Amino acid sequence: MEIKNIQTPALIVDENVFLQNSINMSKILSGKTLKLRPHFKSHKCAEIARFQVENGAIGLTCAKLSEAIDLVDSGVENVLVANQIVEKSKIATLAHLANCANLTVCVDDIQNVKDLENACGLMSSTLNVLIEYEIGMERCGVSSKEEVLNLARFISSCKHLKFKGVQAYAGHLSHEISGEDRLLETSKNTEKLKELIAYLNENGIEVETLSGGSTGTSIIKAEQGLYTELQAGSYLFMDATYKDLNLPFKNSLYIVATVVSVTSNITVVDAGVKSCGIDQGMPLGVGFTYEKIVASEEHFQLHNPSKKFNVGDKVLLIPAHCCSTVNLYDKIYFVKDGKITRRVQVSARGCSK
Ligand SMILES: Cc1ncc(COP(=O)(O)O)c(C=O)c1O
Repeated sequence: MEIKNIQTPALIVDENVFLQNSINMSKILSGKTLKLRPHFKSHKCAEIARFQVENGAIGLTCAKLSEAIDLVDSGVENVLVANQIVEKSKIATLAHLANCANLTVCVDDIQNVKDLENACGLMSSTLNVLIEYEIGMERCGVSSKEEVLNLARFISSCKHLKFKGVQAYAGHLSHEISGEDRLLETSKNTEKLKELIAYLNENGIEVETLSGGSTGTSIIKAEQGLYTELQAGSYLFMDATYKDLNLPFKNSLYIVATVVSVTSNITVVDAGVKSCGIDQGMPLGVGFTYEKIVASEEHFQLHNPSKKFNVGDKVLLIPAHCCSTVNLYDKIYFVKDGKITRRVQVSARGCSK
């Protein structure tokens, strides 16, 4: 089937660009100590997760327990939940899941560690633990090295938990457009993390894993060599928010929409907030610009587009944020030379628990 025959709104991926993005990430990491542990949140497709593992990823990162269940259920055997899991019922499920896969979770609270240890004791499972260290994003994590040491000592004393190391994610730097500023700020964090690791080592704590990083900081992390795991997510699809960073990854993800109404200055398409994540901004048009775009649930109203459209025309949009966009679709069509080659299920769509 050709793209023009897909009922819209639909999500498509240019397979050639997707594969080249994967190759380019492998090139960045080739010969480096940094290993790829890509973030599942950016595609939410178990099939793509398995593709990543087959192409060198050491495992997957995910944000949610329900995403971890989907990954393990689909055969991915090494999964990091890059978040704190604190509800008792979820901890019980996590402890069970730790019997099914090589599972790691992040912590920043001692009571949470005790709850994890108790649950894993009941399930006779072993769970790997990373301590989240706050490096400027102000989203979870302990902020002093003394707190890290105390938590690490406590985790090391637990029978069912294995202290593996540290997660430090500086998401606020991922989209910094200036390459110079991104490098400068990332380097400051690297120094802070070197100090933390030295302090832990002096106090008898080994740090086997340092996990974090994103698409925007992947080259810097690979060059600096301190991190052991790279959690980049967007690099396969990319999006409009990443477009000005001059990274070796190109956009492969598009929304196909249909023009449903045309007036003298406004063109309306059948994609809106329910088919395009706008949390990081409005989508870009492919082959056209617009003066203003207004979003409603089922429509984008394009004011004074640079191109004349007719009702029924297909348009391609590049979403500002791939992660929130894929969560709005059940499936993604892979396309080569204008033709659909396969359909991939967004297996973890809506897995927000
Ligand atoms: C903890 C964590 N790691 C990695 C990523 C991946 O970032 P990116 O999609 O920009 O590569 C994210 C994205 O939000 C994240 O929250």
